Amino acid sequence: MARAIRFFEVNTGAQIPSVALGTWQAAPGVVGDAVAAAIKVGYRHIDCAQAYGNEKEIGAVLKKLFEDGIVKREDLWITSKLWCTDHAPEDVPVALDRIHWPVSMKRGSVGFKPENLIHPDIPNTWRAMETFYDSGKARAIGVSNFSTKKLGDLLEVARIPPAVNQVECHPSWQQSKLRAFCKSKGVHLSGYSPLGSPGTTSLKSEVLKNPILNMVAEKLGKSPAKVALRWGLQMGHSVLPKSTSEARINENFDVFDSSIPDDLFAKLSELEQARLVKGSPFVHETFGAYRTFEELWDGEL
Ligand SMILES: NC(=O)c1ccc[n+]([C@@H]2O[C@H](COP(=O)([O-])OP(=O)(O)OC[C@H]3O[C@@H](n4cnc5c(N)ncnc54)[C@H](OP(=O)(O)O)[C@@H]3O)[C@@H](O)[C@H]2O)c1
Repeated sequence: MARAIRFFEVNTGAQIPSVALGTWQAAPGVVGDAVAAAIKVGYRHIDCAQAYGNEKEIGAVLKKLFEDGIVKREDLWITSKLWCTDHAPEDVPVALDRIHWPVSMKRGSVGFKPENLIHPDIPNTWRAMETFYDSGKARAIGVSNFSTKKLGDLLEVARIPPAVNQVECHPSWQQSKLRAFCKSKGVHLSGYSPLGSPGTTSLKSEVLKNPILNMVAEKLGKSPAKVALRWGLQMGHSVLPKSTSEARINENFDVFDSSIPDDLFAKLSELEQARLVKGSPFVHETFGAYRTFEELWDGEL
């Protein structure tokens, strides 16, 4: 039987399920089974993106789950993200409901060639997102990878404020400044790579091996992954762990019944901080809007 999930409320009044199944790098042929397993466990939020190249299979599996009466569409929160080539207002309605990166690329371009980078016109793209929201096709619209400054700039011009900013967030990249800003503006922070993306070899992530995290996990008799996810929930974020293993899909959902006590929670604020996902394909000394990482993240490095 599906286990109960907890929710956070976003500024449209919609309830975002606090744990989502991440699907980046979940290979076609495997992702469908992972989604079905997750829904059966009780997940009600699937984090997708056009750029992950697996939405078709996810759609087919969801359709089957609806037909078989396993879950209803209205009980699911499906996140998708507007890829960088679709920022022109006329392309937005055919695409979806969340800006993936505050970086634009030439329409129709494929891959990450620097010469495809162009200056984003975020207010213009956002107006098209608002129109999309007005059409009733999305319960909420949001952004992703927006720094405090970029989010602040958007809030200045937005008619409908973003409901969510989806950003890297885990005990080794806690986003203190952005988190405080989001809270003050009523924008929900969703934490991606909540385990530190250990499967992305190029990132050489050590998050789950961190000695403080492991000390806390040992004291609580939990895995470091569960502690990292529970940390996010107690911080007030939704968390989006990716897994294609049924055992780990189960493990990552088993985070609602016990909490990290205050003394150990405080220990987790002592972890050394480092951004893992730097957005290298979007920074170039000649092309696009951001010549340096400093500019892309407005100093939040
Ligand atoms: N908006 C953006 O720009 C953006 C960027 C990055 C990620 N995201 C979203 O956030 C999701 C999660 O981020 P992520 O995929 O980078 O990393 P993550 O969820 O932090 O880590 C996923 C990796 O951890 C492994 N894993 C899962 N559960 C585990 C557990 N309990 N113990 C040990 N290892 C475990 C997975 O392997 P197995 O599959 O073998 O279990 C996978 O290799 C993505 O899938 C995507 O949906 C969004």
